[in-house]
Amino acid sequence: MDRYDFCRALARDAGKLAHRGFGASATTLKGRHDEVTEMDREVERYIRAAIASRYPRDAVIGEEEGGGGGERLWLIDPIDGTANYARGQPRYCVSIGYLEGDVPTIGAIYDPSHDWLYAGARGEGAYLDGRRLAVSPCVELTAATVECGWSTRRPAADYVALLSRVLDAGAAIRRAGSGALGLADVAAGRAEAYAELHINAWDCAAGIVLVREAGGFINDFFAGDGLTAGNPLIATNAALCAKLSGAVGISITG
Ligand code: IPD
Ligand code: CA
Repeated sequence: MDRYDFCRALARDAGKLAHRGFGASATTLKGRHDEVTEMDREVERYIRAAIASRYPRDAVIGEEEGGGGGERLWLIDPIDGTANYARGQPRYCVSIGYLEGDVPTIGAIYDPSHDWLYAGARGEGAYLDGRRLAVSPCVELTAATVECGWSTRRPAADYVALLSRVLDAGAAIRRAGSGALGLADVAAGRAEAYAELHINAWDCAAGIVLVREAGGFINDFFAGDGLTAGNPLIATNAALCAKLSGAVGISITG
């Protein structure tokens, strides 16, 4: 598939560009605990230029420059995990998702710190550098780790309540600062679940493809105005769906 090959190559190239400024790119605040570096903007420009040159009729929505929907739509996060990136902490990535007719179809996430390329396409599986991915086989929340994403877009008390519910349900928690890599970890079976009360489409579009293609389940993230305004997100394996969605309060439909 032409766009799949293009997406994988672009994520890797953009990640190589991003890594040149790792821990050293000038940072400003967009809002409380919402950083942006010079490199976030440069990488988004780079990705947009590549898409415009190869697929000039496709639509693009990106974290830094926004954009609108379309039948063939790219959702780009030039650097996900910006707070880590800006501090020289090696957990960040480039995330590129592609939706066709509103259906998440292609996803590529490149982790420059490890030179790891996660990629998946609808019906074709999810892979890490060519190795097929599968979600964790864990069946008990008492053996599960759930990454609980956080931002200031929801009240602190709601996040504390989420952590409390997940812990009360018996799971372990963590937060590592990149929603896209959190989803890649679920696809790779390194974490049993990812949950966040509000996340934006550019953070999770690629990861949604990876998790589904690795045999996992996600809530109906693009329902309502999820594409433009974001939504809650939960991703996990089949065995933990009911237990976790009950604990978190987000239903998983497929
Ligand atoms: C954020 C990270 C974080 C997630 C937030 C995102 P950024 O993106 O993915 O882990 O919890 O919802 O906004 O600011 O690092 O690009
Ligand atoms: Ca992001």
